[in-house]
Amino acid sequence: MIPGAGPVAGPERPTVRLREAGSDEPPRYAPEWLQLREGADASARALDLLDPLRIRLANLPGRPGGAVVHDLGCGTGSMGRWLAPRLDGAQHWVLHDRDPYLLHFAAVASPRAAADGSRVTVETRRGDVARLTPDALAGASLVTASALLDVLTREEVETLAAACAGAGCPALLTLSVAGRVELTPADPLDEEIAAAFNAHQRRDGLLGPDAVTVAAEAFADRGATVKIQPSPWRLGPAEAALTAQWLRGWVGAAVEQRPELAARAERYLAARLAACAAGDLHVTVHHSDLLALPRPTGGHR
Ligand SMILES: C[S@@+](CC[C@H](N)C(=O)[O-])C[C@H]1O[C@@H](n2cnc3c(N)ncnc32)[C@H](O)[C@@H]1O
Repeated sequence: MIPGAGPVAGPERPTVRLREAGSDEPPRYAPEWLQLREGADASARALDLLDPLRIRLANLPGRPGGAVVHDLGCGTGSMGRWLAPRLDGAQHWVLHDRDPYLLHFAAVASPRAAADGSRVTVETRRGDVARLTPDALAGASLVTASALLDVLTREEVETLAAACAGAGCPALLTLSVAGRVELTPADPLDEEIAAAFNAHQRRDGLLGPDAVTVAAEAFADRGATVKIQPSPWRLGPAEAALTAQWLRGWVGAAVEQRPELAARAERYLAARLAACAAGDLHVTVHHSDLLALPRPTGGHR
């Protein structure tokens, strides 16, 4: 499944390899989809959260290998490619994902240098980030995630917040879907598709558009100061390939949720794709970035 879009079984290359029917395997993400969205993600990320983060990191006691950053659900590693060159000082990134195929991409294209030219190193860890313990984050300077929270459950986000609180480290959790999209020009079916898509995101107890609110409460309950900033994708003619793929996923998820929409949604999608190809469509997909700063403990654990 694709946060911000949805499952796609389209005629072209798949955006996501869907679960086999009856399989307990979690859904997997196609690296092509993650690569397609990387530029829009980079433009969307909330720069206003960086200064408070830099100040907190600068106040940590020095560590021999530099800051240790755990990127949860790293996919192909776009968070590190964006953030590492924006932070000063040596960094060691621990890239977590349950998909070894994506971890391979992340390791190969990992960032090499910090903002001040210091060395950046990486290691990969395969596993389920929804079960992280404080021990797994022992010694962490920072936890990051990007486009992850909305595919977790409330319990999993509580576990994550508890692990960060236990490790005493800040968390920068970016690009969670906010459940709002704006398409220009508007269409009468926009709202119905959006509502069905949001319902699809909330299936099986997943948080979908509630992720940031739940995460903010979970971190605040554990004594953290929480800051939230908008991080919308603003997609115009220059992002037509991403917009088209997002549209297919967005409409596809809506129809999976409400099959009775199928005939109208098919006509809607065809018209939207044509407008996109003609450069006549603008889409804003709202996301939120969250920074949680734990209460300083007086010593870095
Ligand atoms: C939408 S992708 C985002 C990838 C990357 N952070 C980015 O922004 O491009 C979500 C990623 O989280 C991983 N993921 C989702 N749930 C996970 C879990 N419970 N444990 C480990 N990885 C998980 C998926 O394999 C996928 O790589």
